[in-house]
Amino acid sequence: MMSNEQLINTKQKMEDRLIPDHTVGNIYVENARMSARKVNVYYSDKQALDDVNLDIGSSQVIAFIGPSGCGKSTLLRCFNRMNDTIDGCRIEGEIKIDKDDVHDPAIDVVSLRARVGMVFQKPNPFPKSIYDNIAYGPRIHGLAATKVDLDNIVQYALHRAGLWAEVKDRLDKPGTGLSGGQQQRLCIARAIAVSPEVILMDEPCSALDPIATAKIEELIHELREQYTIVIVTHSMQQAARVSDRTAYFHLGKLVEVGETTQVFTNPQHELTQDYITGRFG
Ligand SMILES: Nc1ncnc2c1ncn2[C@@H]1O[C@H](COP(=O)(O)OP(=O)(O)OP(=O)(O)O)[C@@H](O)[C@H]1O
Ligand SMILES: [Mg+2]
Repeated sequence: MMSNEQLINTKQKMEDRLIPDHTVGNIYVENARMSARKVNVYYSDKQALDDVNLDIGSSQVIAFIGPSGCGKSTLLRCFNRMNDTIDGCRIEGEIKIDKDDVHDPAIDVVSLRARVGMVFQKPNPFPKSIYDNIAYGPRIHGLAATKVDLDNIVQYALHRAGLWAEVKDRLDKPGTGLSGGQQQRLCIARAIAVSPEVILMDEPCSALDPIATAKIEELIHELREQYTIVIVTHSMQQAARVSDRTAYFHLGKLVEVGETTQVFTNPQHELTQDYITGRFG
């Protein structure tokens, strides 16, 4: 009988043949929560992603970095099928969460997006009270049997997002009345409220000041134990601070992926080197 490690090695050897030669580093992790295999994405006839293969490790933070237009957001949106909402967008290849193929017709997209939550660049609270922003998801997914259950979920999610102390006395006030940084934490709480496995964050701090940014980074640090997090960022300092692994993209290709410290201190690919030393981007 093969050990787990041997099994993984065998699996890797079989799959290695599928790895395109434009990716350097290890696309695999032992505890993958999600995976992308041979993913190509097109917007009408324009190709945005080219043969991307990548594992997303469980209870880890992975950062996607690379110049504007390289496909970071496109790949992020593949993981919870947000590209479905874009006219003319076509996806080839396989995206899995645990053993489930996200494109399986048996998969309910609304449930998938609860398992794989998303936080956007611009905080986008619903035009509802702070309470209802958080309660909305648990209500539509039937996660709370009683009002007390729902109250508990709301309180838990706001706690986890580090917002409880700031909003506990104004839960009935509009979410849009909070500061930008508070709104972004509200959006994170909203994602947490439906017990996601994965949280996708697309430049979550780009609209925030440095103090609000530091709070979100602290939060990411705390949440990584319980959730799998994928963060797109243009800040290399941020990627270096918050992530365990870093993936560098260029013109739709995954160029390099590895441990964050390795990618930043000892990049293997010339394109990664040029980007992190600020030669372009
Ligand atoms: N809705 C869309 N319709 C058509 N083309 C699109 C659409 N969204 C993205 N693209 C194109 O796909 C490519 C990848 O875009 P994507 O938004 O994924 O890049 P990105 O790495 O997230 O860039 P940025 O750092 O600027 O956010 C780009 O060439 C972009 O112009
Ligand atoms: Mg983007």
